[in-house]
Amino acid sequence: MQAYGVNQLRKMFLEFFESKEHLAMKSFSLVPHNDKSLLLINSGMAPLKPYFTGQEIPPRRRVTTCQKCIRTGDIENVGKTARHGTFFEMLGNFSFGDYFKREAIAWSWEFLTEVVGLDADRLYPSVYEEDEEAFEIWNKEMGIPAERIFRFGKEDNFWEHGSGPCGPCSEIYYDRGEKYGCGSPDCTVGCECDRYMEIWNNVFTQFDNDGNGHYSELEQKNIDTGMGLERLASVVQDVESIFDVDTIKALRDHVSRLAGKEYGEDYNTDVSLRVITDHVRSVTFMISDGIMPSNEGRGYVLRRLLRRACRHGRLLGIEGNFLPTLAETVIAGSKDGYPELEEKRDFILKVIAKEEEQFNKTIDQGLGILSDLIEEMEKSGEKVLSGEAAFKLYDTYGFPLDLTKEILEEKGLEADEEGFHAAMEIQRKTARDAREVTNYMGADVTVYESIDPSVTSTFVGYDKLSCESEIIVLTSDTEVTEALSDGDRGTIFVKETPFYATSGGQEADTGVIRTADGEFRVEDTIKLLGGKIGHVGVVTKGMIKVGDTAELEVNAEKRALSARNHSATHLLQKALRTVLGSHVEQAGSSVNEDRLRFDFTHFSAMTPEEIREVEKLVNDSIAKALDVDIQNMPIEEAKKTGAQALFGEKYGDIVRVVNMGGYSIEFCGGTHVKNTSEIMALKIISESGVAAGVRRIEALTSKGLLHYYDNLEAKMHEAAKLVKATPENLGEKIGHLLSENKALHAEVDSLKSKLAQEAAGDILDQVQEIGDLKLLAAELPGVDMNGLRDLGDQMKEKLGEGVVVLASEADGKVSLMVTATDGAVKKGAHSGNLIKAIAGCIGGGGGGRPNMAQAGGKNPAGIKDALAKAEEVLKEQLS
Ligand code: ALA
Repeated sequence: MQAYGVNQLRKMFLEFFESKEHLAMKSFSLVPHNDKSLLLINSGMAPLKPYFTGQEIPPRRRVTTCQKCIRTGDIENVGKTARHGTFFEMLGNFSFGDYFKREAIAWSWEFLTEVVGLDADRLYPSVYEEDEEAFEIWNKEMGIPAERIFRFGKEDNFWEHGSGPCGPCSEIYYDRGEKYGCGSPDCTVGCECDRYMEIWNNVFTQFDNDGNGHYSELEQKNIDTGMGLERLASVVQDVESIFDVDTIKALRDHVSRLAGKEYGEDYNTDVSLRVITDHVRSVTFMISDGIMPSNEGRGYVLRRLLRRACRHGRLLGIEGNFLPTLAETVIAGSKDGYPELEEKRDFILKVIAKEEEQFNKTIDQGLGILSDLIEEMEKSGEKVLSGEAAFKLYDTYGFPLDLTKEILEEKGLEADEEGFHAAMEIQRKTARDAREVTNYMGADVTVYESIDPSVTSTFVGYDKLSCESEIIVLTSDTEVTEALSDGDRGTIFVKETPFYATSGGQEADTGVIRTADGEFRVEDTIKLLGGKIGHVGVVTKGMIKVGDTAELEVNAEKRALSARNHSATHLLQKALRTVLGSHVEQAGSSVNEDRLRFDFTHFSAMTPEEIREVEKLVNDSIAKALDVDIQNMPIEEAKKTGAQALFGEKYGDIVRVVNMGGYSIEFCGGTHVKNTSEIMALKIISESGVAAGVRRIEALTSKGLLHYYDNLEAKMHEAAKLVKATPENLGEKIGHLLSENKALHAEVDSLKSKLAQEAAGDILDQVQEIGDLKLLAAELPGVDMNGLRDLGDQMKEKLGEGVVVLASEADGKVSLMVTATDGAVKKGAHSGNLIKAIAGCIGGGGGGRPNMAQAGGKNPAGIKDALAKAEEVLKEQLS
């Protein structure tokens, strides 16, 4: 077997699968695209998830890649052994609903034995214990004896990483010989020692894990394979570990030279050499994908790796900044497979140097303080470092919490993490309270204050909607930065921009900024002090870095629609001055692609006639198709044209004058139509007061107006449909319905009173005599309070002098009414007092005048008692 190098093996693999009709794709960025389940790409399949799930169509159903990967599960253990690092390259061949187990197995075997030339007798496949199909393929079709095929459980042979596609797998192990073994008589495939090394993983992806442990069968069966390139190289080169393969050893040797220490002589030295070797690879690749050191997410991982490497440099006795020179060795060793390393070399080195320099300023002091703290703890027997102390190390000396924890752990100590986070929260809150302003994207406005004041941008967008320029400053939400990567929010500053920033009431442009490596969606454009124009938004693809040449493109439709609304406000102002008088001054305005708003001085609400007149004037000047002429001129000259200036506004010596066919002439910095006919038409949709003497008009033009009418039309159709009419005869139909409704109401009322009278007819025989007065106390079914009152009046007439008490229940509620004739009142009857005395029976209360009272209650069962009690109470009142 030939001892192929890492770069050769990568090429051999990709070419082999290209010969099997696979499309060889470039490694994807380490930054996951639209995948919140991962911080960093950790396998060949991770960036291909949408192809596996069927969300996106792959460019070909067979794909092969060599993917840069980072796994950060146990950074603190990296270096302690030579088994793994954080960074590695994963070779993979993938099938998206194309070939399945048979081909995947056959080709993995063919590549290992025939292309690489590994000894077939040293290779051992394994299958998932329930996967008979895979077992049969290995056994019957590939001719591997059953005893050489190992069956493993879910732990080993079911592949999944977070949510997404997953499935059973078949791994291939290589027997590296006794010299790597543990010597145990039980040592065989699956043993934890270094003899039987798992080199290839064929995953038969057939399930989708929703992230909560629910598996659904994928519509199409896929193949996802993975083989660690460095690991394969260690087997092929027959060296002890990945740290001994050609390219990585070159890097490790470089570290050794800087440290003046040999590898393999002392355990602690080896740990540090491995940590630095591994971390510098991760760091170099991460930065090449636009990840910047920060205190959160990926940026924190990067910072932690970088600072951990710095500290191990100190442990080895390396003085000063040493990481950039090592990064150069990484670039030299890997640029074959990753040309972006070479392309971004200066950038990578600059970012590493800056971060290292920053940490170097404080690391010695920090380490000193930490070792004093440790000494104190050891003396006092304290096992846990306080959160405040850990936070101070972080905040003042740049020690990531994990680094502090790691150093403590080496002495068997811990840090109070909760206390650390609490201290951090206190500081954040203090900082938040101290700055009140944020832009609407949530960025601290203060971040813009740290930009070099000499940075300025020029707006070139009056005549063009796209241009090329250089990115001169980038900020994240919290700091000025060298790069932004996929998904990051931030602000871009360039030398020249066609993007109009919000000003003079015109809303900002949106659009897109593209560079060779990435794409940024501009969601807002802002004007900052000192002549800076910021493009606020989010990276939607790849990475963006300072120094990149960018293509800036404004959303043309939004710009055009805003221009129409803006030009319309000029015509509107002119029309208002014509109709209402020259006291009309602009008091504010706001235009965007949907609508326009114009505030002006005027002292009473506009009449409908005035509104119509203003609309007509504007629409006439639109119909006249006036050319719009825009010129910069000295202010004195501008004034001579009679141009309308903003009241109270200070202008410079040169002003921009927007002249619409000589009809409307205004000082204005906004973007406008070339001819008023582009505005199409204007409709005022509201006129209202906003402050004393200030009126506001809201109006629509062109697309916004059509949209408004479309909406109205849809609503009208909907309404017409409801009443089985057409929009044309809707009014007539509603008229009919209203009169029908009126007639029905009248009919219902008369029926109701008829019903009540009928019921009342029967109750007259319940009249009792009390002295020379009559008492009618009766219950009626289902009559409301109004009905009871009507009936009460009728009954009174029939009774002669006396008192009527009526009760009725409807829907569980009781209405009670008492009314007394004048004669009865004279004799002492009092409806209000009577009802007060009996309302308790129906679980309610009420009251009223001597001749009329009413009450409501919730207890229908008490009606009988109430009526019975009415007699007693009346008797008392009369006595
Ligand atoms: N995705 C599989 C792995 O990472 C191939 O092992």
